[in-house]
Amino acid sequence: MAETATLIIDGKEIILPVIEGSEGEKAIDIRGLRQNTGCITFDPGYGNTGACRSRITFMNGEQGVLRYRGIPIEQLAEHSTFVETAFLLITGKLPTREELTRTSVYLNDFSPIHENMRLFYRNYPPKAHPMGILSAMVNAMRSFYPELMELDEEMNRTYLQIISKIRTMAAMAYRISTGQRVVYPRPDLCYCANFLNMMFDSEVVPYRVDDDLVRALNVFWILHADHEQNCSTTAVRVVGSSKVNIYAAISTGISALWGPLHGGANQAVIQMLEQIQRDGMTIEQCVARAKDKADDFRLMGFGHRVYKTYDPRAKIMKKMCDIVLSKVKREDPLLDIARKLEEVALEDTYFKEKNLYPNVDFYSGIVLRALGIPTDMFTVMFAIGRLPGWIAQWKEDTSDPEMKISRPRQIYTGETLSDYIPIDQRSGETIC
Ligand code: SDX
Repeated sequence: MAETATLIIDGKEIILPVIEGSEGEKAIDIRGLRQNTGCITFDPGYGNTGACRSRITFMNGEQGVLRYRGIPIEQLAEHSTFVETAFLLITGKLPTREELTRTSVYLNDFSPIHENMRLFYRNYPPKAHPMGILSAMVNAMRSFYPELMELDEEMNRTYLQIISKIRTMAAMAYRISTGQRVVYPRPDLCYCANFLNMMFDSEVVPYRVDDDLVRALNVFWILHADHEQNCSTTAVRVVGSSKVNIYAAISTGISALWGPLHGGANQAVIQMLEQIQRDGMTIEQCVARAKDKADDFRLMGFGHRVYKTYDPRAKIMKKMCDIVLSKVKREDPLLDIARKLEEVALEDTYFKEKNLYPNVDFYSGIVLRALGIPTDMFTVMFAIGRLPGWIAQWKEDTSDPEMKISRPRQIYTGETLSDYIPIDQRSGETIC
């Protein structure tokens, strides 16, 4: 017998179906609520609202569990590569050796971008934020690659074109903003090594690909590859539900991710740690400010809508800090500040009571600094990692017969019925 929920409102009782997922999560199916009661539900920020059924990523926020297509993030971070994980997320299965080789060849073949797209960069102000450039460039792909609107086989060329080109666009944004010549992708390098080479190669000091740093970048992007219905993925699904092209949907995901409450937090964490170092703020002062409601200072990189324990990605990222810093033979004073902040915050009642723990962004900036990535490129790095997840979620949403155009309702709290007043009959001071 299917489980149900009983709702009594205005003396009327209605029975609502309960649906259950493969991991035992339950949801009350309210699709018949308004027509049976005239009521809607109210859930600003959708913290308690399931927007879809999905087979891609499973999270358990209380236990700190994250799995892509059932595989724990810890195993993927240890054994997989970013390209293999992208294949898993988008197709639902790990690739065979032949499929992986073919995917890697495609990603290399597709890495150049249309020469006329380069002109876009030249017209941006030098200090333009690369996330704004990236969002525009991905949207422009619809115009430059109209032939890619045809989605063909499983891991199709359109997805690989975006995954390949976003890396070239990102590196190009950095090189042009710093007045350096553009470095083109090399056919002999894998996805991650190519990105690092496009970022840092130079005639004066040719970039030497370091396998450990390439491995660190693979892990970084694996950790960011998907995260179920987060803000930017929801943006991709909502925009994609109007049946607009995939480039426009992905472009809105990049824009949503840019915000400091979301992917922009990795840049905000480093700026916070630099501020603490520069202003000589004590850890205790910093934690006190984060708790003070009158102070808009927040402990960036802490807290999460779903995780009410340590973000499993943050645990792996924290370990990566030591690995990468020892590889580049560098200390980073900001890491010491971050570690002390974590230690004090996790002992503090405010943070414990509100279940505020480090999230993926708290240590990721330290890893990126050690790789030589400039701070305003941090969220771009998050976007490159999240792209396979956005594609997988867009594909699932647009091919799901259960999904419709996103159109939430509201509770209106404005003026009740009132008449138009001709301008010569209006009282009150002039306002313009
Ligand atoms: C990402 O959703 C995802 O999966 C996102 C992500 C992904 O992979 O896609 O994991 C990536 O976006 C990680 C989060 C990055 N953002 C930050 O690190 C910014 C700092 N964190 C917060 O702004 C906040 O924790 C959020 C935005 C992450 C979550 O916000 P919620 O779930 O809406 O929680 P909330 O703002 O309602 O906070 C609950 C309470 C509040 O206090 P009260 O009003 O109950 O007294 O906790 C407090 C908040 O003031 N609080 C914090 C805090 N985070 C929450 N207080 C101080 N410092 C913080 N960082």
